Amino acid sequence: MELKNAVLAVTVLCLALLRGVSSQKPAVAATPAPAPSPAPRHVDLAELLSLAGPYGTFLGYLTKTGVITTFQSQANNTDQGVTVFAPEDSAFAAVDGAALSNLTADQLRTLMLCHGMPRYHPLSSFSALAASSPVPTFAGGQQYAVNVTDAAGTIRIESGWATAKLVSSVYSTSPVAVYALNRVLLPEQIFPTAPEVAPVPAPAQAPVHGDKANDGAPGAAEHGSTDAKSLSCRIDSGRLLAILALMVSSLLML
Ligand SMILES: *[C@@H]1O[C@H](CO)[C@@H](O)[C@H](O)[C@H]1NC(C)=O
Ligand SMILES: *[C@@H]1O[C@H](CO)[C@@H](O)[C@H](O)[C@H]1NC(C)=O
Ligand SMILES: *[C@@H]1O[C@H](CO)[C@@H](O)[C@H](O)[C@H]1NC(C)=O
Repeated sequence: MELKNAVLAVTVLCLALLRGVSSQKPAVAATPAPAPSPAPRHVDLAELLSLAGPYGTFLGYLTKTGVITTFQSQANNTDQGVTVFAPEDSAFAAVDGAALSNLTADQLRTLMLCHGMPRYHPLSSFSALAASSPVPTFAGGQQYAVNVTDAAGTIRIESGWATAKLVSSVYSTSPVAVYALNRVLLPEQIFPTAPEVAPVPAPAQAPVHGDKANDGAPGAAEHGSTDAKSLSCRIDSGRLLAILALMVSSLLML
């Protein structure tokens, strides 16, 4: 316990130093600056998804279909990078179980491939993506392309029977972007008829519908519009948390 706390404290300190270093003018170097711990360049997607939140169902399917390897090798390819759209567990729970279990192994694999793009897309590029829709996914071909829309900062991904909202940025540092979706994408090519889908699951934190105040979350979205400020707020803390978690876990393995 004490060791964990110490490691945590050191990690937080390192992060604070790193942030400070990047935002301050360097002071006159009286003492040599401590070497900052190297930023984790390599992102392990499976680790990220399992640590970052409610993406266990998605990760399970990615593993089962082998698509995690496809995404990871693209993540390792720092020239292009990867963008992964991770439906939350509640999104999978909302889809009629039979619709998914009826799929052949090939169809399930294709469905998973639809949840990624073979390029790193920071959030700032989504209005351009919207303009160039439909955007191809890993599944390839126009029939598996998705439409991106950006309505005053609320980003949605449209695929056949589903319109998914981008609810948060889990991680976004070149070459890897992972965004959370409130729905599973349902291309018509895979689902000839509309699968039964329960109403949009209530998101865990940021309220999307209704007026429930989100205590302690400054700039929480109201009335379904995720304004850019609150989104970037959550990105920052989400990213920080993910980095922190990765650092702590790697330190603990020492
Ligand atoms: C990605 O890179 C890591 C670290 O170099 C390596 O361990 C892993 O096997 C690579 N994965 C794939 C799928 O290329
Ligand atoms: C699943 O497959 C069964 C048998 O082929 C079929 O009767 C049923 O309608 C299918 N369900 C869905 C949701 O596609
Ligand atoms: C994308 O939008 C176009 C034009 O509205 C539409 O014809 C197409 O079916 C949409 N594709 C998807 C995957 O939703």
